[in-house]
Amino acid sequence: MREIEETVKVPAKLAKNRAFPHQRLGINSRGQGRRLSQYSERGICLRLSRFIAAAGVTSRRKAETLIKQGRVKVNGQVVTELGLVVDGNRDTVELDGRRLKVEKPVYILLYKPPGYLSTVTDTHGRPTVLDLLPGENRRVYPVGRLDYDTEGLLLLSNDGNFAYLMTHPRHEIEKVYEALVEGRVERADVNRLKAGVVIDGRKTAPASVRILQRYENRTLLEIRIHEGRKRQVRKMCAVVGHPVVKLKRSALGGLTLGGLKPGDYRYLSEQEVESLLAAAMEHGGRRK
Ligand code: URA
Repeated sequence: MREIEETVKVPAKLAKNRAFPHQRLGINSRGQGRRLSQYSERGICLRLSRFIAAAGVTSRRKAETLIKQGRVKVNGQVVTELGLVVDGNRDTVELDGRRLKVEKPVYILLYKPPGYLSTVTDTHGRPTVLDLLPGENRRVYPVGRLDYDTEGLLLLSNDGNFAYLMTHPRHEIEKVYEALVEGRVERADVNRLKAGVVIDGRKTAPASVRILQRYENRTLLEIRIHEGRKRQVRKMCAVVGHPVVKLKRSALGGLTLGGLKPGDYRYLSEQEVESLLAAAMEHGGRRK
């Protein structure tokens, strides 16, 4: 794997204000993963373009353009160098005179119960997954979505780059579903689902499908996919004549629900975040 080490050059005038003027970000020396952020004792340290993206202003690419255009100031000085690392607690970053702030990234794994929307708000007043989190965690948003009636593993974060990497189909993050469907599913149906079926005018990518359990008039299937099209599993099962009765996402990118009960949540460890990012990178992921 290509090893990237971006040496950060800090202008002399700014260096005295830097927490870690020598800091490097990128794929580590073993070529694994990329650190999402580095923490100093005081605050979160990020490359300037990433800081701007993390402040929710724009993508990292566009942030680089803004920097080159001289629209960004650090500690009152215009900075046009892309490699500068800033400390969110010590350095003042301004875009066009407006101060930018970055919150510490938060990554939550929630067992979404059925009957909750995977949105931040709902105009009809229906419950959303944010209602399941205490107030201090309500500044996150769902990473991908589960239907109102679907239960299971849902990630939430305030990190836009993480959300992009987890949800773009190119990054092939595997999602595992348990689908209880109507009727007796035959081997031929399983093979059709595996090969891909046409939904919304486009064939689904190859999937892993197996029968977990047969009941009198229903079948429990395990379906592993990498895409995340709207109501994909429900539509796939309907196409082969077995509508979904109940749907649960049991795993995502190697994470499982573990011992969580519906409505429970936990924070991801740094290691878990890193390994999700590494998985996305392996499949052509690039930071925005
Ligand atoms: N597929 C669906 O049909 N619904 C979901 O919520 C997730 C995947």
